[in-house]
Amino acid sequence: MLDTFQVAKARHTLGLRQAGEAFKHVISESDFNEAYNEIRTWSGYAPTPLLQLPALAQSTNVEKIFYKHEGSRFGLGSFKALGGAYAAANVIREKISTRVGHDISISKITSPEYADLAAKITLVTATDGNHGRSVAWGARRLGSPCRIYIHAEVSSSRAQAMRDLGAEVIRVMGDYDASVAATRREAQAYGWTIVSDTSWTGYIDIPRQVMAGYGVMAREICETMKTPPSHVFLQGGVGGLAAAVAAYFRQAWRDASPHVVVVEPELAPCLFESAENGKATQTKIVTETLMAGLSCGEPSQLAWHILAEEASDFLTIPESLVGPAVRLMARPLAGDTAIEAGESGIAGLAGFVTSALQAKLREKIQITEASRILLIGSEGITDPEIYTNILDEN
Ligand SMILES: Cc1ncc(COP(=O)(O)O)c(C=O)c1O
Repeated sequence: MLDTFQVAKARHTLGLRQAGEAFKHVISESDFNEAYNEIRTWSGYAPTPLLQLPALAQSTNVEKIFYKHEGSRFGLGSFKALGGAYAAANVIREKISTRVGHDISISKITSPEYADLAAKITLVTATDGNHGRSVAWGARRLGSPCRIYIHAEVSSSRAQAMRDLGAEVIRVMGDYDASVAATRREAQAYGWTIVSDTSWTGYIDIPRQVMAGYGVMAREICETMKTPPSHVFLQGGVGGLAAAVAAYFRQAWRDASPHVVVVEPELAPCLFESAENGKATQTKIVTETLMAGLSCGEPSQLAWHILAEEASDFLTIPESLVGPAVRLMARPLAGDTAIEAGESGIAGLAGFVTSALQAKLREKIQITEASRILLIGSEGITDPEIYTNILDEN
C-alpha cells in the first residue's frame, strides 16, 4: 500500500530560516485573537477533530501522527471556511461603520436596519473553489452580493457549490493567475471590493484577516496537544495556510515550535522555487494539478515573509501520489480511522509518507523514531465526482 511513496520522485530544498520576527509582525497576536473571538460566536462553530493514525505511524517508523481533519468546517468542506468568510464579514462591517459614522459589530450587521447598506457592497474574488465558497458564504450571511471568478479548469461541481451559496460565478479563460487578474480589473472598473486570500504590493489588510481566520485551526491544535509536534507538514498554494499556522505556532510555542515542512505539487511549486531563489518567485503553471487548491503560480507576499523565516524544508510531490494518498485515508491501514480527504488536502500527508520512507529525505528532514508528526487535512470531499473517481481508480 505504501510502495508508491517509497519510489516517488519528490524534490527537496532547505528553508531559508532568515532571522526575523515576521511571525508576530505580519499577523499579530491580536489579529489572531480578534479572528478567534469572532469566529467562535458563529452558529455551527465547533473545533474540528484532531485524530491519530497509529498504524501509519508504525509503518512509517515515527512515534505519533496527528491529523487535523477540516472536512466538517462550517459545512463548507475545508479550512478555507475560516478565512474568506471572516475577511468578508470584516470588510462589510468596516464599510457600514464608515457609512453610519460609528463602529458596528459583525453580529449587528445582520439586523434588517443595515440590509440596504449591506446589499450595496459587492465582494469579489478569484478562486480554485474553496476560498470562493467561503467568501460566498460570508457575503450571504451578511446580505451582500458576491461575484466569484474561476479559471478554465475549475470543476463545474465546485462552481455550482458557489452558486448554491448565492454567488454569481464567472468563468475566465486561462489559469488561476488569469482569474486573479480579471478580478482586479473588474473590481477597479466597478468599485467592488476584492476579498482575496493572496496579497500583493499595496493589498495586505484583507489577506492578513484571511490568514488570521486560519489561525483558529492552529489555536484549536495548540489547545488539544499537550506537547508540540516535532514536525508539521503543510500543503502550499499561495502559502497563506502554511504561514498562518507557522506564525501561530511560533507565537504559542516559541522555541518548541515544530519543523515546518511546506509541500506543493511539482506542477505548481512557487514556494519551493522561492526558497531556491532566496526570494518570492513566480512560476508558470503549464499543466493544472489535480490538487486544484494548490495550483498557484505566485506566493502571497505576506505569507512569504513568514515562510522565509519559519519554514525548515520545502518539498514538491508528483501527481502520481494524489490517488494513493486519498485512498490511504479512505481505506486506511488496519487500526487507523477511515478519513474522507480531498485531493488538495492530502499533499502534506503524501509529502510526509514519502519523506519518512525514503532514507535520504528522512535524514534531511530529520525524521526519527521519536518524531511526532502533525498533518493538516485541509479538505474533505469538496467535489464528490472527483473524489469517487479517485477511489475507483486502482
Ligand atoms: C484544501 C486546501 N488546502 C490547502 C490550500 C492552500 O492554501 P494557501 O493557498 O493559503 O497556501 C488550499 C487553497 O485553496 C486549499 O483549498
